Amino acid sequence: MITLRVNGQEISINADADSPLLWALREDCALTGTKFGCGISRCGACTVLLDGVPARSCVTPVAQAKSREITTIEGLRDINAPADRARIAAAIQAAWTAHSVAQCGYCQSGFVMAAVALLSTVAAPSDRDIEDALRGHLCPCGSYERVRAAIHNAARALSGGLVAT
Ligand code: FES
Ligand code: FES
Repeated sequence: MITLRVNGQEISINADADSPLLWALREDCALTGTKFGCGISRCGACTVLLDGVPARSCVTPVAQAKSREITTIEGLRDINAPADRARIAAAIQAAWTAHSVAQCGYCQSGFVMAAVALLSTVAAPSDRDIEDALRGHLCPCGSYERVRAAIHNAARALSGGLVAT
């Protein structure tokens, strides 16, 4: 039995210590917003936050995550979310909608988690900051430019400006 702290709640699961966190989240915690893409740390679809830092859950053993605060896409705005993170997530959600970022949407929770982590540490990211934060995130639908524009707009909204529509 392993106890994980996920989205502010403790959840005990039966899992091997070296099994991927992705499967613990999806199958044991029923948190299916985190997606399986490549399984080898090459696409970013499985990105979650560990102590606020993006991590690829497909290659993160459960044992490595058990003493950390795990945040999934479901936890960004739930009742347990820290106020700052919820505010950033709300701005990102609004900007994503304004820019119609998602097409099929499969990759998007990974992009959103990376964007939340970025705006939690850099209030007004440059294109280069965004490129660095999203390196290795793949979107076969080609949403990259819209993601970049949405992050800039979310940053602007968080600093008191308006989100463009
Ligand atoms: S599924 Fe984890 S990086 Fe692709
Ligand atoms: S929106 Fe379809 S893979 Fe990114």
